[in-house]
Amino acid sequence: MSSPPSSAALAPEAKEVALATEGATPPVSEAAAAERPRVNEEVVVLDYGGQYSQLIARRVRELGVFSELLPHHVGAEEVARRNPKGLILSGGPASVYADGAPALDPRLLELGIPVLGICYGMQLIALSLGGRVEGAEVGEFGRSDLRVTEPGRLLAGLPAEQTCWMSHRDTVFEPPPGFTALAASTASPVAALESVERGVYGIQFHPEVVHTPYGQQVLQRFLEDVCGCERTWSAASIIDEQVQRIRAQVGDGRVICGLSGGVDSSVAALLVHKAVGDQLTCVFVDHGLMRKNEGDQVIAAFRDQFHIPLVAVDAETRFLERLRGVSDPETKRKRIGAEFIRVFEEEAARLSDARYLVQGTLYSDVIESGGGTGAATIKSHHNVGGLPDDLQFELVEPLRALFKDEVRAVGAELGLPERLVWRQPFPGPGLAIRVVGGEATSERLNTLRDADAILQDEIRKAGLYRELWQSFCVLPDVRTVGVQGDERTYGNVVVIRAVTSDDAMTADWARLPYDLLERIASRMINEIREVNRVVLDITSKPPGTIEWE
Ligand code: XMP
Repeated sequence: MSSPPSSAALAPEAKEVALATEGATPPVSEAAAAERPRVNEEVVVLDYGGQYSQLIARRVRELGVFSELLPHHVGAEEVARRNPKGLILSGGPASVYADGAPALDPRLLELGIPVLGICYGMQLIALSLGGRVEGAEVGEFGRSDLRVTEPGRLLAGLPAEQTCWMSHRDTVFEPPPGFTALAASTASPVAALESVERGVYGIQFHPEVVHTPYGQQVLQRFLEDVCGCERTWSAASIIDEQVQRIRAQVGDGRVICGLSGGVDSSVAALLVHKAVGDQLTCVFVDHGLMRKNEGDQVIAAFRDQFHIPLVAVDAETRFLERLRGVSDPETKRKRIGAEFIRVFEEEAARLSDARYLVQGTLYSDVIESGGGTGAATIKSHHNVGGLPDDLQFELVEPLRALFKDEVRAVGAELGLPERLVWRQPFPGPGLAIRVVGGEATSERLNTLRDADAILQDEIRKAGLYRELWQSFCVLPDVRTVGVQGDERTYGNVVVIRAVTSDDAMTADWARLPYDLLERIASRMINEIREVNRVVLDITSKPPGTIEWE
């Protein structure tokens, strides 16, 4: 298996597929007050526009401390209001000397809260406190060797020689007066600095990316030894907190939740059910475009295992009817989206006393749509229209403060079957957009479903399912000649598409082992009468997209 290009490997978590309706964005404090979990301790990350800012917040949370990402311009009062145990200033793309480059509010260093500047954040600190920061002739991008010259408080106990990940051109040549330089790297005379007295720390390298092997230890030292955090944020604590919040919001009202089979809506439903039991009814619209047995698995988990009231609507005939004669991809998407809304509305109307609607909005959706409470309010597993505004529900969004990996951890903690916890992303319009260049008829969908089931089975058996962002089959409207058992055949071609990615924005084709590919191809041809040829898609994104249409 190959890894994707480093930029993709390092890119922050992406939203699954979300719809954002831009509303008026209230001031951060108001928005945040409404959605912030009540936590014992928190570390604020101020975002100066760095590529990895979200990742810093995720890494802090992985270390058991709740962390929020706020825009750099929120101001010192806003930060102080949260009473955080620590403050991290992120990296950013600008030069500290560029016109309009985000500046450091000096009051942030006077709040009595320990501060850690990362990359641009460290340069801001150095510059504003009288250190020497200059644009270097040569930038330092990628892996670099770090030599710890004076471990100080921040780097105590870490190896004297280590590798780290750098991405900067401006360089700190001298620390500010009263600061100690802790380390140097290939191109950075001062790659880490601190003033224990002032409670201000800085590192030029990126501790949040996997290419800095001791990055988590550095962050841990900051959280534990500098900020004195107790690290109690965990899946279990998230569940307790959310259950109380949901109860407070919903009281004895009735709640409705649309299940898609994906991890977000599943975990959101489980949390709400844990909080208010059978006041929740789930609606699962089976549009007949799911993978083999997937609808049954959702029903088995929610109805049989969790005993959650579930309305499962078998709408396959309706959807296929709407898809008849349609081969244009966008028309397919639109029709499926519109039909989905129609079916959901019909079911919602039957539950006429339901006042609340559960949405699986994630923290990355919130951040990416501006961070306000009015943003990202409508999320649907169909990115074609979403649910209409005139559905008069109050939204319950129990995942609004969580990153995807936390959602998975909560799901596992709540007993969600492993298959659902780790399900790869699956497009709302389902297999209809994988029957390519022609109509998605029931026959073609069945051929595709059978091929896809073999692919999934073999990928899982090979232990590769979690490593792949997505793996699926495509059925183009192409027939080719073959020969099977002395007979000439004229059958379908199945395309294997498997990609690695972190966020679906970029992706690399997965280097699946040859013997696995051989097994998959031979099973497809032997077990599915309609298929006589199997090909592999070796296009990365860009220039290709992940889906074929
Ligand atoms: P592309 O093909 O644009 O896909 O590289 C990026 C990600 O989005 C998913 N995708 C969709 N998801 N409705 C969805 O809910 C859609 O219409 C849709 N189209 C693409 C795709 O599976 C991949 O994860």
